[in-house]
Amino acid sequence: MTDRDADKRLAADAAVREIRDDMLVGLGTGSTAAYAIAALAERRLRIETVATSEASAALARSLGLIVRDFADVARVDVAIDGADAIDGVLRAVKGAGGAMLREKVVATAADRMIVIADGSKRAERLGATKLPIEILPFARRFVIDRLAPWFVHCEERPDYRTDNGHIVVDGYGWDDGAPEALASALMAIPGVVGHGLFLTEIDAAYIADNGIVTRLER
Ligand code: A5P
Repeated sequence: MTDRDADKRLAADAAVREIRDDMLVGLGTGSTAAYAIAALAERRLRIETVATSEASAALARSLGLIVRDFADVARVDVAIDGADAIDGVLRAVKGAGGAMLREKVVATAADRMIVIADGSKRAERLGATKLPIEILPFARRFVIDRLAPWFVHCEERPDYRTDNGHIVVDGYGWDDGAPEALASALMAIPGVVGHGLFLTEIDAAYIADNGIVTRLER
């Protein structure tokens, strides 16, 4: 295990210690979230879960966790998820793994949303991280055209579909001076169904640097 993997596991273990019997837990997506899923399964708590991707649902079930269909769920107690970049005031960019839409739904449904990360995810400025945008395939060309003013350049992920059947365009080089304005502008483009900017959803973060875990609270 690399030092970075060890830090991901430490952050995940710290977040999982918040979980109690009878909670409904939101499972994130990605390599750090996978450590949290494994740690939850190991603790053998009396919990149920919902998953933010088919991959996380499959992993959780394979480890013996109960995974409910989120379509039947209105609120979650705690969601635990990774991030691609997170700043000091708990704003994050997510979606390198393409799960940002379901992740945002579950994060918003959660009473408490916890990000877990190794120290490489700390960011002074979020704008240095590519911003994934989920798009209805029908609107592909139109949306990419409308995105152009907001990014230095945009790249569609080749031969890629999200679990929702949508395409993803990654936006590079964006102005993070007013991320709320960008988030609103993106969601105002018909055909954009989601994006990876998490500005208000995150309540806490456990970030591990070389074996030391720091907790940030909103
Ligand atoms: C999935 O779409 C993402 O939002 C992940 O949460 C994010 O990319 C973090 O993944 P890692 O933990 O693998 O870095």
